[in-house]
This record gives sequence, C-alpha cells and structure tokens, in this order.
Amino acid sequence: MAHLIVAMDFPTAEDLLQCAKAIKGTVEWCKVGLEAFVLQGPALISRLEDMGFKVFLDLKYYDIPNTVAAAVRTASRSGARLLTIHTQGGEAMCRAAMEAAKEAGDKRPLIFGVTCLTSFADGQMPGIHEPVSGFARSLAGMADSWGLDGVVCSGQEAGYVKQNTSLMALCPGIRPAGAATNDQARVVTPAMAVQAGADFLVVGRPITRAASPAAAASAILEEMAR
Ligand code: C5P
Repeated sequence: MAHLIVAMDFPTAEDLLQCAKAIKGTVEWCKVGLEAFVLQGPALISRLEDMGFKVFLDLKYYDIPNTVAAAVRTASRSGARLLTIHTQGGEAMCRAAMEAAKEAGDKRPLIFGVTCLTSFADGQMPGIHEPVSGFARSLAGMADSWGLDGVVCSGQEAGYVKQNTSLMALCPGIRPAGAATNDQARVVTPAMAVQAGADFLVVGRPITRAASPAAAASAILEEMAR
C-alpha cells in the first residue's frame, strides 16, 4: 500500500503548524523542504515527529561526496525517516551518502535519489536532449546499481522503476483529475501513481492550499485505496 506524504511548503511556522494540526490523524507522513527547513531548522522535524508524523526531509543534497556524507550524518540524527540526494551527484556521492546513513544503524533514514524534477518537460533540462522520462529511467538504473533505497521520479516513470529495479519509488507531481498543475510538468493522478506501483506519493498544494486540507487529503487517500 502506497503512503501519502504531504509537502508542508509554507512561508511561516504558524501556517505550517496550522496545516499539520488539520491533517494530523488523517496523514501519517509529511515533508519538510527547503522553505520550511531554512525558516525553522531541525526543531521543526522534532516538533512534527512529536505530533506523530513521520518526516521526510527533502533537501536534495548535491555536493562533493565528503560534504554530502557529513550532511547525511547530521540529518540522520534529526529524526527524519527519509532524505533526498541528487542522483546526478554521481556514484561516489551516492555511495558516500548511503555509507553515512548506515552509520545510524537500524534507525537510519532511507536515502532516495532525485532523478529528474517533475517540473521538467522534454527539452527543459540543461544539456539533456533525450526525453526527460528516458533520462530519469537511466538515472534510476544507476541509482539501483549504486545501492540507494529508492528514487524520486514522476508517476510516468514509476512503473519502469518498479519493474526493472529493486528501488522504492517516491512520486511528486501528483494531481487529482482537474486540479491545477502549477509549475509541475510530468503529472499523474493519485490512482495512476498507485497503479504504476509507487511506494510514496508526495502532494503539496492540492492539499495545503485547499479550503479543508484534511478533506482534500482524505479524498486523495480514498482515490489511492480504490
Ligand atoms: O505542491 P506540489 O504538490 O507541486 O509539491 C510537490 C513537492 O514535491 C514540492 O515540495 C517539491 O519541492 C517536491 N518535489 C517535486 N519534484 C521532485 C522532487 C520533489 O515536486 N522531483
């Protein structure tokens, strides 16, 4: 059964915590990304864990292997259950991230490699002339051979990942039928992502900007279960 993760992208701590209270009990996982982390730091992760959430820390590390390993080590002590790095950081960086995470033992966070951002359509990735989905699939194959736990990919690539690798697939770019796509390009509906075998669905604005975030989350969970 796939898990729903709500992307808590908010400009203030008050707004974020108000949404967290609203979806508490409905959703098990939430995502702390760049905006919230820069605003509030690791204390926010503890706060959300104390409220009962499992926290996905989405900082998408991309740096030299030593720096990424150190950042993974620090994040592993934050209570986050899942971290992201960029698969395009290459083999040495990805392997260093995994080794650093494993130092945390049984309680280590899962390490997922971002393949191609879901906001990229064909022709928009600098230097990449092949279709974005094809490039994302190639990166997933590499992530598998480098021993990552999973990849971040669009729902359009999740089927390939589940059928051809041993990786878990975490999919942003999820939009219920008829919802605004915003800046996302490679979107699928919650039902399509589940059908493709996605392990985690990340949904932000369709839930966080809804009049009732809890009702929007419940509707997506119902669609995922159907
Ligand atoms: O609001 P929306 O549902 O588009 O939010 C998607 C979330 O997933 C954002 O927080 C974004 O940073 C994140 N994300 C993404 N595409 C990726 C990786 C992460 O949209 N490839």
